[in-house]
Amino acid sequence: MLFERPEAGNRAVVLHVELRGQANPDKDEFVELARSAEIDVVEVVLAPRDAPDARAFVGSGKVSEVKQTLRAADADLLLINHELSAGQQRNLEQALDCRVITRTELILTIFADRARSHEGQLQVELAQLKHAQTRLVRGWTHLDRQKGGIGMRGAGEKQIELDQRMLSERIKAVEKKIAVVSKRRSQNRRGRGRRGTPTVALVGYTNAGKSTLFNQMTNASVYAEDQLFATLDPTMRRIPVPGLNDVVLADTVGFVSLLPHALVEAFKATLEEVVHADLLLHVVDAADELHEERLQQVRDVLQDIGADEVPEMLVLNKIDLLPYNELPQAVQEAHDNVKGVFPVSAINGQGINALIEGIGAALGVAAPHQVVLDSADGRTRAWLYRSGAVLDEQTMEDGSLQLTLQADDGLLKQLQSSPQVMLRGDYTPPKISISN
Ligand code: GTP
Repeated sequence: MLFERPEAGNRAVVLHVELRGQANPDKDEFVELARSAEIDVVEVVLAPRDAPDARAFVGSGKVSEVKQTLRAADADLLLINHELSAGQQRNLEQALDCRVITRTELILTIFADRARSHEGQLQVELAQLKHAQTRLVRGWTHLDRQKGGIGMRGAGEKQIELDQRMLSERIKAVEKKIAVVSKRRSQNRRGRGRRGTPTVALVGYTNAGKSTLFNQMTNASVYAEDQLFATLDPTMRRIPVPGLNDVVLADTVGFVSLLPHALVEAFKATLEEVVHADLLLHVVDAADELHEERLQQVRDVLQDIGADEVPEMLVLNKIDLLPYNELPQAVQEAHDNVKGVFPVSAINGQGINALIEGIGAALGVAAPHQVVLDSADGRTRAWLYRSGAVLDEQTMEDGSLQLTLQADDGLLKQLQSSPQVMLRGDYTPPKISISN
């Protein structure tokens, strides 16, 4: 361990500092975040201030109050809803004799728990290392404490240099790995783009039920050929959508409001699928009293990462927890980008079929097209049936087949350009003409 700090436990006091005239993180959200990190919040202490105190972020009176509260509540952890300098954090820990965790650290812990893709995990590690680097100051390392005192400064400083070098090397190594993973990811994405496979990304506030929905939507349709894909990145799976060739469904890490700036940068890569998605499924926990705020907070993050122009479908999840007539009204109001509102229960599967049909409609499953195939071209015919695009088939007088298709642009383009994915052996491009 790099730091010798008071042991952290699981019973926490939250110190909620409101800086006047500034955007402060929401108190309830912060407490919720702590709960989702499985921390038991036993007390909340409020501290309105004009500006942070240079020494300990809050004044000495507040520090004493917090100390008493920690004792009275038998708590062993202080969570503070702002970012602290390394010095402020150390001073607070020393004064309180208890571990102090900042908002950034709390969010990092949650992301570390939840990041499922390889790239996501690397990004979290990178953010953690960079954060640790800012914490390495004199008086913070174990050597400093052991040998502290006059005359020993030099030893402490050498240790810091060593730790800094270790961290820098680790950061470089992680950055290298990220570059490799991210290149592969963008190659995969380009591949999907060429084949006309749309990407649909699940977004939503942490705990909205994205992963449960992801499993519900993908379990219904396990594609054997998808196994490799699934192993490479468990957050992306192919699902069939009627009228479309296929859709890639991408799960993402949960969003939180006022994401610390350093984290926005770190997570942009993790959320690249979101920025490049053809459609977002914005999952809202309809049973959460604060769902309207959450909805807005997610949209703010989407704007931060440049994904606010991607069309969005609203998925009101957890309707099993609500009687139907209590479906929240406000979130149903139209929003420029919203392509429909779908009440679902990711847990029991209610509304999932309608949602999948909705995806087809939102991706512009076009008006029916007719395709004429040579009667000998059984392979293209079989492929079209497999893609779920065929609405009707008729045999013409000359023996050719006229198929009526409901297909998106991608599938039609693929048809017109005799797709490579279909080519095998001596297969020759189909003779087709398309009209609608
Ligand atoms: P993050 O990973 O934090 O982003 O969370 P998430 O959005 O992926 O949520 P997750 O799927 O982990 O679900 C959060 C909690 O909500 C879990 O305890 C789920 O069992 C529960 N949950 C999800 N969907 C439903 C639902 O439709 N009904 C009910 N009652 N609970 C649900």
